[in-house]
Amino acid sequence: MLKPIVLLPVLFTLPLSAMAATLPGDAANGKKLYDANCTSCHNDSVYKRQDRQIKSLEGLKEQIGSCGHMTNITLAKPQVNDLVKYLNDTYYKFK
Ligand code: HEC
Repeated sequence: MLKPIVLLPVLFTLPLSAMAATLPGDAANGKKLYDANCTSCHNDSVYKRQDRQIKSLEGLKEQIGSCGHMTNITLAKPQVNDLVKYLNDTYYKFK
């Protein structure tokens, strides 16, 4: 009789972890890259504002590409993935 209750947490956590796994990249490393390179022009208010520009994961990747050009570093693909994952996990939450 206890079984359905025991299963509930499993049902709720499964889809969440499955979604998180769809994005490649390492959010912790993304945060390090971000803190080191991305805070000179804007702070996180640009991701939190109501009328933010980015509406999709694709858009986020493109924006990081063009913002990356403005920094003094060259972002390799894995670094872009880390940044996308960090910003998406933290602010945008695109699926
Ligand atoms: C040389 C200045 C500069 C640097 C450095 C910079 N950005 Fe930006 N970024 C901008 C400007 C300008 C905008 C547009 C702000 C606006 O629309 O008001 C922007 C916007 C963005 C947006 C879109 C926000 C929205 O509206 O949803 C993202 C995401 C972003 N930047 C990520 C990054 C990341 C990641 C880095 C580090 C790799 C970075 N930026 C470094 C200038 C910069």
